[in-house]
Amino acid sequence: MTAPAGSLLSAQDLRKAYGPTNALDGAHFSIHPGEVVAVMGPSGSGKSTLLHCLAGIVPPDSGVITYNGRELSAMSDGERSALRRSDFGFVFQFGQLVPELSCVENVALPLRLNGAKRKEAERTALTWMERLEVDDLAKKRPGEVSGGQGQRVAVARSLVTSPRVLFADEPTGALDSLNGERVMQLLTDAARSTNAAVVLVTHEARVAAYSDREIVVRDGKSRDMEPVL
Ligand SMILES: Nc1ncnc2c1ncn2[C@@H]1O[C@H](COP(=O)(O)OP(=O)(O)O)[C@@H](O)[C@H]1O
Ligand SMILES: [Mg+2]
Repeated sequence: MTAPAGSLLSAQDLRKAYGPTNALDGAHFSIHPGEVVAVMGPSGSGKSTLLHCLAGIVPPDSGVITYNGRELSAMSDGERSALRRSDFGFVFQFGQLVPELSCVENVALPLRLNGAKRKEAERTALTWMERLEVDDLAKKRPGEVSGGQGQRVAVARSLVTSPRVLFADEPTGALDSLNGERVMQLLTDAARSTNAAVVLVTHEARVAAYSDREIVVRDGKSRDMEPVL
């Protein structure tokens, strides 16, 4: 089994069981550099499990995941976590910002964890906050901003290290449709401007509309959606 030509991240025949539940039951996936792929499917179909496996957070029971020519399973835990810090960015349904830190400190955090000096990290963080139109919130704590603003701060944080893959799990799931649209527009514009690939998990068609391609997951099995011509 080999990775599809030109793909940055791919998975073949992934299986993952939690007790009697087959969360993944032979799922396939591939994404090219700079591509935005929506992973669609009803609740409980295995979307988050697929994302966690692709990101090297959860090991599949079987199957092969290849990132940039390397099999994730052949890496040590340390190599996988270093890869997550250097090459991957993450956005979840609820921003998961650190409440004690200001918004700019939250955005700068991944750079600080990679060893950057505070001033330099915050300068870079601010440029990302400008792109996500939340630079005016730099000094505020997450508790002082709205849900949509907090999610834009979380998107800025996910992109601050210029990851090659952005993993977004229901990034607009907690937002009303207007704020959700704005977050998706800014997220996909920012990702496309840096050629980051985006694995976008959602069960909402209007969110998937921002993708280049859709994959549907049902009962742990995935298939490409036929393009609508
Ligand atoms: N850590 C876990 N422990 C037990 N069951 C789990 C765990 N994670 C997921 N599952 C189960 O696996 C199935 C797929 O879950 P998930 O990947 O979260 O689906 P989705 O993101 O599409 O809603 C569900 O039946 C869920 O209950
Ligand atoms: Mg989920």
